[in-house]
Amino acid sequence: MKRDNIYLVGFMGAGKTSVGIRLASLLQWTFIDLDQEIEKRAGRSIREIFEQEGEPYFRRLERDELQRLSLRQEAVVALGGGAFMDDRNRATIAGSGISVWLDAPMDTLYSRCAGEHSRPLFTSREEMEQLLTLRLPFYRLASIHVAVDDFSADDLASKILRLVAVD
Ligand code: S3P
Repeated sequence: MKRDNIYLVGFMGAGKTSVGIRLASLLQWTFIDLDQEIEKRAGRSIREIFEQEGEPYFRRLERDELQRLSLRQEAVVALGGGAFMDDRNRATIAGSGISVWLDAPMDTLYSRCAGEHSRPLFTSREEMEQLLTLRLPFYRLASIHVAVDDFSADDLASKILRLVAVD
């Protein structure tokens, strides 16, 4: 693989940020969290953006920010859980690197998101299951699939490193 970016895809709570930080450190690449970049640029939290402007506005910011980040190289990018649903985002990603889906079981996703208030789309377990079902066909479009199971973030980062085989 060229030194293009690695994009971590997956549902809320899949571990994109914690795995991404470790993967970037193994590669000595830059780690970028797409949501944090959006928050910096907007000067507001993701929750505030959703509450004050609505989801379509957030998705526009997400698309614009991804487009900007895609011009970089040697970056590990943790996407937000909904970013890979958009065709344009998938095209941006395919043109600038490789996508890796962190496929985590529902129980893991739920236990990591419950009791945390930063995620506007996290409500109940039932709604989370429905959203995951809608999104699975899109996550499956990622180039590489990695089962999260009980693996630690360190193990997953090493596994991804082997799978992407960056020279
Ligand atoms: C979202 C996931 C969040 C964030 C926003 C919307 C989603 O990111 O982008 O709240 O649509 O699943 P994480 O997956 O990092 O929680």
